[in-house]
Amino acid sequence: MNAASDKKREARASEYMHWAKTRSHARFNLATSGLANLTLRELQVSLDNLEITGESGYGYQPLIQALSDRYQVDAACVVTAAGTSFANHLAMAALINPSDEILLETPAYEPLLALAHYLGAEVKRFQRRFEDGFRISPAEIERTLGPRTRLIVITNFHNPSGVLTDDDTLKEVGELATKRNARVLVDEVYLQMLFAEPPRTAFHLGNQFVVTSSLTKAFGLSGLRCGWILAEPEIARRMWLLNDLFAATPVHAGERLSVVALKQLSGIAERAQTRLDSNRETLNRFLDTRNDLEVIRPPFGSIMFPRVKQGTTERLCNLLQEKYETSVVPGSFFEMPAHFRVGLGGDSETLAEGLDRLGEALDEVRL
Ligand SMILES: Cc1ncc(COP(=O)(O)O)c(C=O)c1O
Repeated sequence: MNAASDKKREARASEYMHWAKTRSHARFNLATSGLANLTLRELQVSLDNLEITGESGYGYQPLIQALSDRYQVDAACVVTAAGTSFANHLAMAALINPSDEILLETPAYEPLLALAHYLGAEVKRFQRRFEDGFRISPAEIERTLGPRTRLIVITNFHNPSGVLTDDDTLKEVGELATKRNARVLVDEVYLQMLFAEPPRTAFHLGNQFVVTSSLTKAFGLSGLRCGWILAEPEIARRMWLLNDLFAATPVHAGERLSVVALKQLSGIAERAQTRLDSNRETLNRFLDTRNDLEVIRPPFGSIMFPRVKQGTTERLCNLLQEKYETSVVPGSFFEMPAHFRVGLGGDSETLAEGLDRLGEALDEVRL
């Protein structure tokens, strides 16, 4: 079996997601990339807020309206989906045909790569280099774009590095896409950790932009699966129709809870920001003590992607799990085995203790 057909076989699963669900658990879990999950009690919900069935054929209007108000977009541009995961699936499936070319960043969030293969895309890559602070280079994108490129895919903030791409760079990428009759899909699930009001989104940069996001990462509301796509109305409609082949109708109780959550979002955001700021200080203090690590340190967000100066991180990650009951994400899942991803959205004691243990494991692999 050659490499190309191997890829196609793998394209029916996500290696990273499987690892995250079955292997990432640890007493000191620094592998998760979002804020720790809220409980139902913290949401202030009453039974009167809930119902089993409702009018949500092509979107539950109160939820569509809440998202359209939040992002200051026309309601016809909003499509809801189960998490950013399914939003990405729906968006990509609506925007490309099998054998279309898509351009995806490296390093990438692996499920995006697997999804592109699953949809039969011809996947080309552009680099975000550690040496360049994981920045996007429009010049490199221009060199890699071809006549068959239909889609450019970016995460903002970037997963795994947590680096922000500014609007000027995105605009340049948008112009390149327009010249080629392509679109730009921006996964903004981490961008909400800027906690800006109104929230920032590339959707406003031009109609070639399609964005996806959810309440998962920034607000600790992963279980609601409240995801969405913002796209111009004609594409949004195409996505709703395509969704009739996938989920058809969403879980209505989830839609109702999402409306409740959106009303309480500013308080949830405030607490999330306080936690991230304090945890970032803890992580930065730890990094100051390590001359065996190199790292870009974004001033916001919930993830960093350090590189060990020597070797790869496979042994480190195994030792950390087995002996120190601590998990981080091996860089091999992002095609960069000299790195590992550390998440700082969990509770502060877990992070502090996990980092102590990471320090011990780093000392041990160096011996
Ligand atoms: C870039 C990116 N997109 C999407 C997701 C999945 O988000 P959700 O839980 O909203 O499906 C993740 C989760 O790690 C992610 O890192």
